[in-house]
Amino acid sequence: MPRVFAIANRKGGVGKTTTTVNVATAMAATGKKVLVIDLDPQGNASTSMGVDKKGSMASSYEVLIGEAKLSQAVVWTEVPNFSIVPSSPDLAGAEIELVDMDNREYALKKALVKDAVNYDYVLIDCPPSLSLVTINALVAADAVIVPLQCEFLALEGITDLIKNINIIKKKFNPKLALHGVVLTMYDKRNNLTQMVEDDVRQFFGKKVYNTVIPRNVRISEAPSHGKPVLIYDFKCPGSQAYISLTGEVLRREKELIAC
Ligand SMILES: Nc1ncnc2c1ncn2[C@@H]1O[C@H](COP(=O)(O)OP(=O)(O)O)[C@@H](O)[C@H]1O
Ligand SMILES: [Mg+2]
Repeated sequence: MPRVFAIANRKGGVGKTTTTVNVATAMAATGKKVLVIDLDPQGNASTSMGVDKKGSMASSYEVLIGEAKLSQAVVWTEVPNFSIVPSSPDLAGAEIELVDMDNREYALKKALVKDAVNYDYVLIDCPPSLSLVTINALVAADAVIVPLQCEFLALEGITDLIKNINIIKKKFNPKLALHGVVLTMYDKRNNLTQMVEDDVRQFFGKKVYNTVIPRNVRISEAPSHGKPVLIYDFKCPGSQAYISLTGEVLRREKELIAC
């Protein structure tokens, strides 16, 4: 089975999709087979990869509600070794359909167990909520990566998530681990950034990756070209930071698996 990561934070606009797509690209560049699952009805991960949602036979929505197999929803991207399950706006209504299903928290997990055996890594781009859709991601995951923007009340947004991780560990998925917290849109000239960073590092200790992702205009330009920033501009500081972050994630993987 692949190692499965959920990229989650209840707040929107903190860098979940950017982190998912670029860590996946860097992993794929090492020759590993990577699958991204776009679980946000807005479909930003799909668009960022230049994938037309209409181009696939099914989306993550049909997979979640059991109308399609995961393999039917997978599409290749232009990046070698990188496939994606696109989302659809219908996903916004999945909540209501899931509520009446048996084992509704395990729908994505079941789909992965059946159909994701040939991947090395699966990265799930979560919506900005703690909905049943996000719960499905956390139940299917081995570990959670939390992107955190250094802004006022940043910690408040993730205390709920940490509580939820603990509940899900107890009820559904005992192996679920917090893989790490990554500081995104980091601006070292901003005093608030420094203050939030100090707080976060004090609170989460070693769980905070050493690499920070700088605020970089190339990162914000890349999605409109349908490319990860790593392909759009390999040399820019944002790309280099994502390469360094992926190195840390993979090294931490070895430590997590060893213990
Ligand atoms: N490090 C960064 N520097 C500049 N812009 C960024 C950076 N990270 C993300 N962005 C931009 O900020 C917006 C929100 O990022 P996104 O990854 O979509 O967040 P989320 O998935 O959490 O909603 C996007 O327009 C994205 O291109
Ligand atoms: Mg997103």
